Amino acid sequence: MRFSASAAVSTCLLALVTSVAAISKVTRTGRYLYTDDGSRFYIKGVTYQTQGIIVPGPDNPLNQPSTFVDNLADDAGCTRDLPNLKTLGINTIRAYSVDSTLNHDSCMKALSAAGIYVIMDLTLPLNGSIDTTQPMWSTNILDQYIKTIDVFKQYDNVLAYNIGNEVLTSNHTQAAPFLKAAARDIKAYLTSISSSALIGYADIDGASAFRDDIAEYLSCDPSGSNSASSAIDLFGLNSYAWCGDAVSTTYDILNSEFQNYNVVAYFSEYGSENCNPGTRVWTETDVMFASPMTNVWSGGLAFNYFHDLSNAAGTVRDFGLVTLSSDNSTATPNADFTNLAAQYGKVTFANNPTQASAPASSFSACPSSDANFAASAVLPPTPNESACACLASKLPCLFTPKTSDFNAAMGDLTNTVCSFLLPNEKGSCADIAADGTAGTYGLVAMCDPTIRLSYAFSQYYELTARASTSCDFSGNATLNAAVASAAPSAATAAASCISSPSAVFTPSAPAGGSAASGGSGSGSSAGASGSGTSGAKNGAVALVGERGALVGMAAAVGCGLLGMLWTLA
Ligand SMILES: *[C@@H]1O[C@H](CO)[C@@H](O)[C@H](O)[C@H]1NC(C)=O
Ligand SMILES: *[C@@H]1O[C@H](CO)[C@@H](O)[C@H](O)[C@H]1NC(C)=O
Ligand SMILES: *[C@@H]1O[C@H](CO)[C@@H](O)[C@H](O)[C@H]1NC(C)=O
Ligand SMILES: *[C@@H]1O[C@H](CO)[C@@H](O)[C@H](O)[C@H]1NC(C)=O
Ligand SMILES: *[C@@H]1O[C@H](CO)[C@@H](O)[C@H](O)[C@H]1NC(C)=O
Repeated sequence: MRFSASAAVSTCLLALVTSVAAISKVTRTGRYLYTDDGSRFYIKGVTYQTQGIIVPGPDNPLNQPSTFVDNLADDAGCTRDLPNLKTLGINTIRAYSVDSTLNHDSCMKALSAAGIYVIMDLTLPLNGSIDTTQPMWSTNILDQYIKTIDVFKQYDNVLAYNIGNEVLTSNHTQAAPFLKAAARDIKAYLTSISSSALIGYADIDGASAFRDDIAEYLSCDPSGSNSASSAIDLFGLNSYAWCGDAVSTTYDILNSEFQNYNVVAYFSEYGSENCNPGTRVWTETDVMFASPMTNVWSGGLAFNYFHDLSNAAGTVRDFGLVTLSSDNSTATPNADFTNLAAQYGKVTFANNPTQASAPASSFSACPSSDANFAASAVLPPTPNESACACLASKLPCLFTPKTSDFNAAMGDLTNTVCSFLLPNEKGSCADIAADGTAGTYGLVAMCDPTIRLSYAFSQYYELTARASTSCDFSGNATLNAAVASAAPSAATAAASCISSPSAVFTPSAPAGGSAASGGSGSGSSAGASGSGTSGAKNGAVALVGERGALVGMAAAVGCGLLGMLWTLA
């Protein structure tokens, strides 16, 4: 077939001429990854994230960082590191948090030109993720994820977007339905913008039953009709099982557990520091990139390019591959780096099975809850921004915090109003709560946490005869002058604004749009141990403080016709 000479086509032809070696698209066929030419693709990479600041405390059992550095917006850092990444012989990096207000052109384009893909976590530290113990799938997290995608959709080397990292932990799996809803809605969004980026999740390792249930649940179909609509494409396991020069059978149990897995599995982090601290030998790559492991897994990401300290039971380990000079101008490889480069240098990719012979995935019904894994197959709805805005405009008493960092206050206030004030008036916070174990989602749970709190304040105000003193909350609340005193109740407003409480639909980009420039770069973020718990206080009711999810998808549709040109050329 011939092209018509549209402007788009000539632009693409030009792009083709000036950049002959455009990076190939990577897609999933069944449980394997393939490039456009039909070759099997294996992730051979490193995680690439500066460790954020960790504030230890009872609120932070997994020692999650509360700040982050956007390494993909650090042009000088990328220029400094690119030769090292090439020396390592990698094809993929993973970034744990990015700031969608910053410009990522320089770094993303340099990585693409070097043939390096990015697996991008969509979460931010603290409240920018689905929380482990107080999970919600609400407009604020959805918007944050979409803003990041809208910034990165222009690049051709985003392999996947992670919707969460280590959100589910061994006694806390109630967030699973929220992660699945995130996968569903982000997948629909990616399709709507013609992105082929994949959706991933990075799981903390744990006992077999827990690990297997998570993997199965995240790629199952709750409707029982073999639909992929809420399934992840890419199951990442943060695996530290291989230590030092371990025996080649180390992964055997894992392999047998995943031998029938329906989508792609890979190691989203690997590289234990426990056996040869500072001089990891990385002999797991001999096994990881060879049969039988390659029947089941598609490679992995060595943890971590930058220094990353973890303190397990009093022993500090450093997972870095390089040491930065005090002015950040140079990055000097250490023994871990040299050994990894040597191991990666030996790897060859077996093109087996071929894309044509790879069986399609099937998506079975979801596992039922058990003692190891308690998560309902009933998922929360798609957060509806305009429904929440409608509700906010009709609430008589609004949460109006005086400080910009209002997360801690929000936790305290939610606890106060939900655990004490409302119950004393025979009210409850049921409408703003959600329970992933039972599969029950309050009408207002999909809304931003500030709207949820305004809703609870308004209910208290109504139950106390609309006394003006009931809308104060130590100076954190204000009467909404636009709402008349005879206006319908908050509950009535919720019922009318949120008219299809369980609707699932394709979300759109948030109003106010995407990337600008000149953001502050503050935030929080990931690092070694992945997700964590939010800074929010633990109330009796699970309400506040999203934390910890990663969504992933990427896209690469900058020049939609380019892929077609390749296949026709
Ligand atoms: C967590 O779950 C494991 C396995 O079910 C159990 O042995 C352990 O006691 C639990 N820990 C806590 C703190 O509940
Ligand atoms: C070096 O980089 C880190 C992480 O980006 C940053 O926090 C630090 O301020 C930098 N130091 C200097 C001297 O620029
Ligand atoms: C979202 O909420 C608005 C406002 O109530 C409503 O008009 C719209 O139909 C809802 N969208 C879906 C898909 O339910
Ligand atoms: C997290 O909290 C800050 C204010 O402390 C807010 O500006 C930001 O939008 C929140 N992020 C999400 C995803 O809710
Ligand atoms: C708001 O609530 C927080 C948490 O309860 C409290 O510390 C603060 O004093 C309240 N008032 C204002 C004006 O921030």
